Amino acid sequence: MQMLKQLEGIRLEALSELNRIDELGELESWRIRYLGKKSRLTQILRSLATLTIKERRLVGSQANEIKISLQTSLVQKKEFLEKTHLASSLEYKRLDVTLPGRPITIGRLHPVTQTVEEICDIFKNMGFQVLEGPEVEWNYYNFEALNIPQDHPARDMFATLWIDPEMDSKARLLRTHTSPMQIRIMEEKRPPIRAIVPGRTYRYEATDATHESMFYQVEGFAVDKGVTLADLKGTLFEFCRRLFGEERKVRFRCDYFPFVEPGVEVAIECSACGGAGCRLCSNTGWIEILGAGMVHPEVLERGGIDPNIHTGFAFGMGVERLPILRYGIDDIRLFYSNDLRFLTQF
Ligand code: DAH
Repeated sequence: MQMLKQLEGIRLEALSELNRIDELGELESWRIRYLGKKSRLTQILRSLATLTIKERRLVGSQANEIKISLQTSLVQKKEFLEKTHLASSLEYKRLDVTLPGRPITIGRLHPVTQTVEEICDIFKNMGFQVLEGPEVEWNYYNFEALNIPQDHPARDMFATLWIDPEMDSKARLLRTHTSPMQIRIMEEKRPPIRAIVPGRTYRYEATDATHESMFYQVEGFAVDKGVTLADLKGTLFEFCRRLFGEERKVRFRCDYFPFVEPGVEVAIECSACGGAGCRLCSNTGWIEILGAGMVHPEVLERGGIDPNIHTGFAFGMGVERLPILRYGIDDIRLFYSNDLRFLTQF
């Protein structure tokens, strides 16, 4: 019979199309096409009434059977697709909880900053306060008030980067040392004073393995009644002991700086040769680490302090020197060339 053939055709077509579907989203349009209200199958089922009883039985039961089997196939297909979808997405998004985590890179302080902090900590423990001053300084504070007038030969010690022409007290420059803070501190504070000043300093110099045009210094400054050279010596020896260890020999001898009288220089035994003499210490066995002295009476007076009542000591040290000695670094430029391979070692 014509209709039975037609039904068989629908069944084969629907099943083969269902077979080809591999996306869950396509199932609904398949359902509408083969099982929906306007599908050929539904139309046949609706038209049963027009058939004879005999035909109706035959076609009706066949059509219902097909409808049920298509519905079952749809449910099965849906389950199948859902399962494979889940499996593939689990595979795709697989999380291996045994994998080691990604390392978090943690920043660190620059070796020079670390050293500055170490120096400041030692002096803070001895009762000094930490102060900072301007890097752009006046001729007055950097030189004149420190007993270095314009024509003083000591200006040769400081190759200066001038901002203004070197004309008067207010000519600006990049500070060549941290010592100008001695004057600034005295303008603000009355004795007893105990301060240290870390900061950047600048010199007009060609850079090489031992020179940089920017480097760090730490200045120390103490003024009170009855401060003596013995206090200076005791303070600096204790500092050296804490920074370099009990064993390291420390040498204290005369030197000249215009803003102190007397002036001294502190050196430590060379770590590379143990005092025998080598390239690092220019065969002297000693390495100079700082300049110091008793604050010159003229300088105290400039700061408004009566040298007959108060006395003081001061010292100044280069910072890069210390990690250079400690770690055997052979080029000061490494500190400021921002090579992380170097910097992350500290
Ligand atoms: N300011 C000096 C320099 O840069 C170092 C110095 C020497 C500082 C003696 C002082 C001092 O306070 O008393 O070379």
